[in-house]
Amino acid sequence: MVKFTLNGRKIETDAPPTARLLDVIREDFNLIGTKEGCGEGECGACSVFVNNLLQNSCLIPIGSIDGDDVVTIEGIMESEQFKILDDCYSEAGGVQCGYCIPGMVMASAALLSQNPHPSEAEIREGISGNLCRCTGYNMIVDAINLAAK
Ligand code: FES
Repeated sequence: MVKFTLNGRKIETDAPPTARLLDVIREDFNLIGTKEGCGEGECGACSVFVNNLLQNSCLIPIGSIDGDDVVTIEGIMESEQFKILDDCYSEAGGVQCGYCIPGMVMASAALLSQNPHPSEAEIREGISGNLCRCTGYNMIVDAINLAAK
């Protein structure tokens, strides 16, 4: 039995230790904001925070997070920072198909938490682990730039 904190709630799961965190949060806890893109740690669609660090949940076996603190996109939706990012992504036209957006917003939140006023180069670096097939990234960079103001 693996016990951890998920979006502030202490939970336990009897999923096998090799089960991916991505699958456990989506299938066992119905937190479907976290997406699967590549399944190989390349696209960032599955981004979550583990102990406040941005991580790809597709690469994390559930057995390795016993006692850890996991936060998904649903876990930050009530935060002031999320509301600002939500408004700025809308204003900048940063959302097209939307599939990458939960991961992008998690990466944006991680970046702005560490660096509240990033340069454009720092923004691009901050989202470099997240792939978007629609926007060419420029509107997403604009959104983060707006959120930083
Ligand atoms: Fe995890 Fe792509 S699904 S990085």
